[in-house]
Amino acid sequence: IMDTQTIGIVKSLVPALQEHGSEITTRFYAKMFEAHPELLNIFNHSNQRDGLQQQALATSVYAAAANIDDLSAILPAVKHIANKHCSLGVKPEHYPIVGKYLTLAIQDVLGDAVTLERLSAWKKAYALISDAFIQLEQQIYQEEELRRGGWSGFRPFIVRSRQRVAEDIVALELEAADGQPIIEDYLAGQYVTVKIEQDGFEHLRQYSLCEAPGSQHTYRIAVKFEDTSRDMHQAGIVSSYIHEYVRNGDTLLVSVPAGVFTLDTTLTNPVALIAGGIGITPLMSMLRTVVEQHPDREVRLAYAVRDHHFHAFADDLKQLSEKAPTVSNTIFYENGTEEDVEQRRCAYIGRITAAWLEQHIPGNAEVYVCGPRPFMQAMISTLLRQGHPMEHIHYEVFGPALSFSVD
Ligand code: HEM
Repeated sequence: IMDTQTIGIVKSLVPALQEHGSEITTRFYAKMFEAHPELLNIFNHSNQRDGLQQQALATSVYAAAANIDDLSAILPAVKHIANKHCSLGVKPEHYPIVGKYLTLAIQDVLGDAVTLERLSAWKKAYALISDAFIQLEQQIYQEEELRRGGWSGFRPFIVRSRQRVAEDIVALELEAADGQPIIEDYLAGQYVTVKIEQDGFEHLRQYSLCEAPGSQHTYRIAVKFEDTSRDMHQAGIVSSYIHEYVRNGDTLLVSVPAGVFTLDTTLTNPVALIAGGIGITPLMSMLRTVVEQHPDREVRLAYAVRDHHFHAFADDLKQLSEKAPTVSNTIFYENGTEEDVEQRRCAYIGRITAAWLEQHIPGNAEVYVCGPRPFMQAMISTLLRQGHPMEHIHYEVFGPALSFSVD
């Protein structure tokens, strides 16, 4: 617990940290990786290059500092991050390293503005914040190991099948190499982290599980090939590796399932699943879960893709809605043709509109949104405008979440 004066000092520092945010974080990462190159085995190189991770970690430390007198206010975000950290294998001993280089970077960039008094208050705040994370993460690690089929770190899995489910997506079915049980009762919507080695580094990336939990002794993930020419980002290192090199019989290292973007199966209100592109993967797991385990619960799925080449799981979706009268699937092709509509490949040409959402998403629905960032922003702001309460809107950002808001 912190005294009021220290709290005041910490809070007074936050605006300067935010104002110089990108400068501080760039310096922080440069210094930290210089001193601890082994951490490059944990951090995502693609996100480093485009600056997303830089922003995510540091801005959330500042947001936590701004809420230092009541960290419970940011608990949902902390849970999301702690799940990600555990899936990556972040350990308590990493926190002082991050703290040290972040503090050095703050001193470098803010200079004389960081008085001794402010420095000491900042250090106390960081200790408090990291303790909160460490505690929660220890708890998650313990629970994982205690669960039936649980394990710590990474376990070898063999690729049992490799299936192209869209032009740019392959689905892999993974089976534990040791033949021992795996966690089968994960929550629909969770991801696993996959680890590969390339160019002398380990690379870790999360992929959502796309089957319903509990039904099989394998994990199924869907991996999108990242097109460098289109979005100017560095190609996803792990995704490219999987697309180019990974075949049946190969081994991948896999973590236990984690993540807080999950279907609440205790509720009975309608479920709305709104997917853009590869965002369909966690929603497939949710859809299958409802159909298999809660067949009375109503589901509305809206799924937007560029055209039929990018329409993943088309046959599965058709079968699911034929099997379950409570499920309705509506497919949108941004660049569709009249023929697509005639052949019932899609229902609409163009994007998911506000009018469609208004007409088809029940006001009491539990809404799950997943897809590219601009897509999610458009969907969520429209749903909020239409009166859906934020508590009923759940979303997952692929890539670092930047939505950890200060206010
Ligand atoms: C990811 C916050 C400490 C390693 C993240 C993300 C946030 C965050 C917001 C993005 C989550 C997402 O992907 O949605 C924090 C805070 C920390 C902290 C507030 C301190 C209090 C650490 C430490 C390590 C670490 C000590 C280990 C050295 C990572 C890694 C990722 C991550 C590897 C995945 C990012 C990537 O490269 O894509 N963290 N973090 N973090 N964090 Fe932390």
